[in-house]
Amino acid sequence: MKIKSAEFVVSNSEVSKCPDSKLPEYAFIGRSNVGKSSLINMLTERKNLAKTSGRPGKTQLINHFLINQSWHLVDLPGYGYARVSKSAKKTFQKFITAYFEKREQMICAFVLIDSRHKPQPIDLEFMQWLGEHQVPFCIIFTKADKMKPKALERNINDYQAEMLQTWTEMPQYFISSSSNGMGRDEILDYIDSINEQFAQ
Ligand code: GTP
Ligand code: MG
Repeated sequence: MKIKSAEFVVSNSEVSKCPDSKLPEYAFIGRSNVGKSSLINMLTERKNLAKTSGRPGKTQLINHFLINQSWHLVDLPGYGYARVSKSAKKTFQKFITAYFEKREQMICAFVLIDSRHKPQPIDLEFMQWLGEHQVPFCIIFTKADKMKPKALERNINDYQAEMLQTWTEMPQYFISSSSNGMGRDEILDYIDSINEQFAQ
């Protein structure tokens, strides 16, 4: 899919104030600093569309971007920044959970996982929460440029093994790098295929 236009629409912390639109939307979620905003810039080939930072906690609001005048990308704040808590309620800011519970046009969430790390309870808990709330999601393993190919493969295999402890199948997943564009075509083609189904 070619990105012909990408523009910022609005930021807010209330789901009820998100754009009043029926366009399909895709949300990027994951731990702080995992690379959500960078990935949005990589996918849209716009350097500063979404604000990024080396310090966790940069994105604080729900940010809507309109792509090709026909769908939305949503940049969300990271979870697990303040303190890793056992209680999902405390750790996932209320408006993030409200967003996923209420936003009907959100047709696929991309859960970003840092490809360098072992499976973390907070990510597994969050995906569990999505499953319980029947929110469709995929996984994107980020920062692949920071790994040697063998180690990357091993981490992803380990992740799949961990997921299969609780899920009957591994969700659709992608491997990305915002530094070198890895995964861009696959993720955009996937979004395109869902958009086409949605349009029918
Ligand atoms: P919050 O908004 O704080 O939740 O973080 P975020 O998930 O939006 O992360 P952000 O995109 O701001 O990136 C965090 C840091 O990781 C920045 O310093 C980025 O330059 C770096 N980064 C993001 N993606 C990649 C990647 O694919 N490769 C490398 N090498 N660095 C990356
Ligand atoms: Mg961000």
